[in-house]
Parts: sequence; C-alpha cells; structure tokens
Amino acid sequence: MTQTSPSQPPKLVLVAGATGGVGQLILSELLAKKLPVRVLARDPAQARRMFADRADIIWGDLRDRSSLEPAMMGVSHIMACTGSTAFPTARWQFRSASDPWEWIKRYTNPSYCKAQADNSPDQVDAIGGQNLVDAAPADLQQFILVSACGVERKDQLPFSILNLFGVLDAKLAGETALRNSSLPYTILRPGRLIDGPYTSYDLNSLMQAKTEGKLGIVLGTGDRLSGETSRVDLAAAAVACLQNPQMINKVFEIMSKGPRPESINWDKLFDSLG
Ligand SMILES: NC(=O)c1ccc[n+]([C@@H]2O[C@H](COP(=O)([O-])OP(=O)(O)OC[C@H]3O[C@@H](n4cnc5c(N)ncnc54)[C@H](OP(=O)(O)O)[C@@H]3O)[C@@H](O)[C@H]2O)c1
Repeated sequence: MTQTSPSQPPKLVLVAGATGGVGQLILSELLAKKLPVRVLARDPAQARRMFADRADIIWGDLRDRSSLEPAMMGVSHIMACTGSTAFPTARWQFRSASDPWEWIKRYTNPSYCKAQADNSPDQVDAIGGQNLVDAAPADLQQFILVSACGVERKDQLPFSILNLFGVLDAKLAGETALRNSSLPYTILRPGRLIDGPYTSYDLNSLMQAKTEGKLGIVLGTGDRLSGETSRVDLAAAAVACLQNPQMINKVFEIMSKGPRPESINWDKLFDSLG
C-alpha cells in the first residue's frame, strides 16, 4: 500500500461473488463511488442481466485456476465474497440427485456428501480461495476477503454444528491461503447474515429478517463475537476498508448489535481495533 494514497482511486477492483447477496451490495457501493470495477462471474449472461453495462464482466470460476488469469489484467484490488451454503443444497452442485436414498446418505455422511459435490465450501472457499490468491497479481494493493466468525471456534456450539459439513474449515483454509501469501489483505468475519438480498437457504432468508437500519455496528479482533450481521453494513465495511492503509493485514469480526448511532464513522470504528 505504500504506492497509494486516499486521493488515488484504485486502478481496477475485481469483485468475485458480485452476483451474491453481499456482492451485489458491494458492487453498488463501488459503482456509487465511481470506482472502476470488474465482475468475475461463473455465468456472465446472468451478471449482464443484473449489472447491464455498469461493470466490466468476465467469465471465471474459482475452481479453475486458469480461468482466473485473464480476469487479473490491470487489477489493483480484489474483493472476494464468494461462498456456497454451509449445509448441502443445490448450490453444492451434486452429480446425481434423483434417488431419495442418495439424499439420506449425503445428509448423514459429510465425507460422502463432499465427494459427491462439485461446488461445496471445500471447492469454493478452500481450493477456490487458494486459486484466487495464486492468480492475483504480485503487485496487488489489497485483497479483501469476506470470511465468517467461528473459524477459530469450530469445537464450540453453535459453530460445531455449523461446521458439520466443513464450511468453517473451508473458510479458515481460504483465510490461511491469503495470510500465507505476500499480498496485503483485509479479512472480515461476519456472523449470520441478515437483511437482503436474501440469497442464503436459512431461517433468516425464510423470515426475510431485517435490521430495519436500526442496529449499530460492533467490531472485534480475533474470533470472540457471535450474532448476526447486516449484509448492508458488511458490504459498506468491506468498501470502507478499500485502500484504507489502517486496515492492511487486519482480520476483524463485524456484528450488528445495539442502537444505531446517527451516522456510522468507519474510521472511528476501525481505530477501535487498535
Ligand atoms: N449466509 C450467512 O449467514 C453467512 C455467514 C457468515 C459468512 N458468510 C459469507 O459471506 C459471504 C457473502 O454471503 P452471501 O450470502 O452474500 O453469498 P451468496 O449470495 O451465496 O453468494 C455467493 C457468491 O459466490 C459465487 N460463487 C459460488 N461458487 C463459485 C465459484 N465456484 N466460482 C466463482 N464464484 C462462485 C456465487 O456466484 P453464482 O451466482 O454463480 O452462484 C455468488 O456470487 C460469503 O463468503 C459467505 O460464505 C455468510
């Protein structure tokens, strides 16, 4: 980050996961700031339907390292908010689906389940995370990764249940790949996501759970906080980290808790991380 200053906007921000809930919000924040963005999409036609010509869209799949290289041309910053579901769903892209016995085996045997899937958290967050780090330009100025709280508490409830199919193992592997690289990084660890777009297959999505913009923001270092995190605030936090020298090589938790102040001062919140 030595070659940048807040007055110099990023050359090009690559967003991986822009078609997802948090990703859509990150993309709109970046576009509202008139920053040059490129969307890495598995389905460029879907991305074009969502974003029209507001962003450069390029095909790439985290599982295929060679597909990521063309996307890296001219990129100065990467924001990754990709993921699969914690528990097996259609997003895991199972190779066969019709037999009910097959479903029983999947839900009762996590190793079998993972072996039958093409887009499990292992593939997206662990292997895909490593691929994205390996493909990143050596002179990248910042890699912002959305991970999850609980990655260091996998043996404690409720995280031990959440991790039954390995989602926290995979998230931690993605974090480790980034931290072991020489790339300047910022890692965000949210709790259960609340507020739309409701892209998860969970209770919060079913209930369309909202903060109604009333909750404050609590940040922490390490992995101690628990609770829910507004997708809106998570996206705003990720964008506030962009090109913020204070946030280089930081890992922080973010929760939506307590009364909301009149305005959110990200610099002050980030200062509290020490
Ligand atoms: N849901 C929660 O409660 C929760 C809690 C803590 C942390 N998180 C994390 O927060 C982040 C954002 O969550 P979200 O609910 O907004 O996510 P989401 O809506 O599920 O979006 C996931 C994104 O990842 C992309 N993706 C999946 N597999 C990919 C692959 N193989 N290659 C390239 N892109 C791929 C999807 O693209 P397609 O459109 O092509 O599928 C989509 O854009 C994720 O990292 C998630 O793990 C979630």
